[in-house]
Amino acid sequence: MSELIAKPEVHQAKWSGFYKKTLHERQTQLKLVFPRVFTSSEPSSSVVSSVYVTPNTSPSNNDKKSFPINGLDENIADNMIENCVGTIGLPVGLALNFIINGKPIIIPMAIEEPSVIAGVSGAAKTVSAYNGFKATAPVTNIIVAQVCLLDISQENMNSAIDKISRSKSEIIKRANNYCDNMVKRGGGVLDINVRRIPRKANRNRKHFTLSSANFREWLVVHITIDVCNAMGANCASTVAEGVAPFLAELSGGRIGLRIVSNLNVERMSKASFRIPLPMLAYKSLSGKEVAARIIEAYEWAEVDPYRATTHNKGIMNGIDAVAIATGQDWRAIEAAVHAWACDGVRIDLDNSHNSRSDNSYRPLTTYWIEKDEQLAATGKSDDECLMFCGELELPIMVGTVGGVLKTNKVYEYNLGIMGNPNSRDLAMSMACIGLAQNFAALRALATEGIQRGHMSLHAKNVAIAAGCPPHAVTSVAQRMIEKGKITLSSANDLVEAHMSEQVQCVYM
Ligand code: MEV
Repeated sequence: MSELIAKPEVHQAKWSGFYKKTLHERQTQLKLVFPRVFTSSEPSSSVVSSVYVTPNTSPSNNDKKSFPINGLDENIADNMIENCVGTIGLPVGLALNFIINGKPIIIPMAIEEPSVIAGVSGAAKTVSAYNGFKATAPVTNIIVAQVCLLDISQENMNSAIDKISRSKSEIIKRANNYCDNMVKRGGGVLDINVRRIPRKANRNRKHFTLSSANFREWLVVHITIDVCNAMGANCASTVAEGVAPFLAELSGGRIGLRIVSNLNVERMSKASFRIPLPMLAYKSLSGKEVAARIIEAYEWAEVDPYRATTHNKGIMNGIDAVAIATGQDWRAIEAAVHAWACDGVRIDLDNSHNSRSDNSYRPLTTYWIEKDEQLAATGKSDDECLMFCGELELPIMVGTVGGVLKTNKVYEYNLGIMGNPNSRDLAMSMACIGLAQNFAALRALATEGIQRGHMSLHAKNVAIAAGCPPHAVTSVAQRMIEKGKITLSSANDLVEAHMSEQVQCVYM
């Protein structure tokens, strides 16, 4: 952890010019900056379970390459999923310039899309030049398991709920038997709540009703579990399945689905920043003009789901990339985030109601301008006291213990680079990445547009698609940028010219 806590200025100087280095220079720097993470070819805490490995079927990736951030061994992959035929690689890059709650941090991202890492690093540079990002997340890592109880008639509903409520401590005791590991670590089942959810009438006359549709409500039991630093989905589903027979016995109902809920409003993470308006100045545009344009862009997303979806996609560019780099279930994060983006998804467990007010799809970030009262008190003009503020709040369920984390050493290296965060710190970093990405995208879109920068970065991908050999990718991309024509046909011409130059060299 001490590797992380350097003075922000010293930390940033260490990384300046990183993007101009070659891949191998960057890898060397990484080893130098994080000696304890890259002590040898193994991550310090690596205990990759031998049960995953089928011996001697093919040389592992580690035998072929020396730098340890190099993907998943196919022998391990073969034991992870069904019908495995190989593995797929993704570039891993570093998001730089982040200062979160006063501490500098380097954040690894796995993503195939160019300009996302440049975007977040650029946004973080602006924000960190002032006070950096502030982030919060709950201290207790809660997950909710659901057990659906069926076939309870209206007249028996109240007594079923009453019996469950009166047996709370016995249910918790029994449920804890199914997560004794969590209990040992100081977590375990904390609470039981019952929800009554009205069933929808079957409006489609073509469908036959096979289920007990004459019962008017779903009775759903929520089991709240503290899963310590785990993501907790498996634990939740095990507890739900384990305790369901007792819940059925108490309620007189039939056991329905028993599974984790991926919508978890008890795992909300928040990131925010606040910078003086002049820091947004871009080319001929003043900071005030850029701020107004960004807020306009946000206000458009607030009322137009077509735009809000793209706005939120950008946020997930950042969050998913960190999730993938650190071995998280990014589908779970995506599902929760988009449910949260539907304004009105506010599950009120105490009222036992799903109180949806409406279903508009909203942008996840908020931007506004406020006056800094302390600056105002020093006699500065109104304009000098205006602050541009951004905030992102969303549910992020992640874990830094358990799950697939031991299956791929790259996760351990990446978490090591982040200072081995606990799940709360990881969630906060992901919220900051999401906010930085959205701020970067809106700032670019609201000023010069993103295509010039994006296409320049994309030029290398176009060169690769045209069959350009690796050593010539940079020069072919550069020539396309100079010509202002970043297309496959232009890349094809340049690659062909490059090849014939090479052939001439060989024969001369
Ligand atoms: C591209 O992957 C993401 C953006 O479209 C996000 C946005 O429009 O806000 C640039």
